[in-house]
Amino acid sequence: MSATPLHRLYSHYSELPYSMRILYTGALCILGMGYLFALIYLVHVYSGRDGKPGLSYEDLVVAYAGSGKGSRLEAALRGPMSTMLPAEEANALISWVQKGADRPTYETFIRPTIDKRCMACHDGSNPHLVNLGGYDNIKKVTEQDTGTDIFTLVRVSHIHLFGMTFIFFLVGLIFSHAYVRPVWLKCLVVALPLVCIAIDISSWYVVKIYHPFAWVTMAAGAVQGLSFATMWFISMYQMWIGKTPKSVLQRVESGGAVIG
Ligand code: HEC
Repeated sequence: MSATPLHRLYSHYSELPYSMRILYTGALCILGMGYLFALIYLVHVYSGRDGKPGLSYEDLVVAYAGSGKGSRLEAALRGPMSTMLPAEEANALISWVQKGADRPTYETFIRPTIDKRCMACHDGSNPHLVNLGGYDNIKKVTEQDTGTDIFTLVRVSHIHLFGMTFIFFLVGLIFSHAYVRPVWLKCLVVALPLVCIAIDISSWYVVKIYHPFAWVTMAAGAVQGLSFATMWFISMYQMWIGKTPKSVLQRVESGGAVIG
């Protein structure tokens, strides 16, 4: 064991009153549950975005930066719906979408094509097929997929910055009573998740411009999870199962602290 002496203000779990240990344990249990639900939610929301099952690098890129594959209408016209109309009509529709899908062109040139070629199936009577009747309905499938918009990112950012800091502050505070040597390692475990919150959230915006940054998002998330698990298990173990460290016992015996 390293010779680093105990800090004057350090108290081990065994020196804390039972009420405090119970409070810490309860808080750790609820936060642990919260973390598990957050993970389930994360996998559910992000996996499969790239068309393949499971959570992957591509899913994150699609979520933050968009698929880069144009609109749903364009994809349908080039793919499964290409047999529904002559190629020149399909090209006219695609170039209208790419130029911004304006209403005047729709009324004069686009609507007749849609009515003739598409409405037999897409008039809204079948709830499983997209309704292509009218400009407003068409507009919905012409939007380019550019990923989560900046305003949504800003909203989610501030919620995460406040929320995650609370979580890691609480868990870090509880963990500060653990006996861990070397001391720098303990400090690292407390500090890393906080650094990673900042990196994680900043990386969302960078992924929009530079896709490979999605690896940074994933790494930052992984480090946060690992730190959380490390602090959680060490805290619980030392609080209820592990033996009181020798240096703490010596201090208690010499009258330095009172067990309550
Ligand atoms: C014979 C019936 C029929 C006609 C006519 C038809 N579609 Fe479809 N369309 C379908 C069916 C069925 C689906 C669902 C297929 C799928 O999800 O793979 C679909 C799906 C779509 C989708 C949604 C794709 C997605 O992203 O989920 C779009 C957009 C679309 N059609 C556009 C058109 C356009 C534009 C026309 C006219 C040029 C057209 N369709 C004509 C039957 C039709």
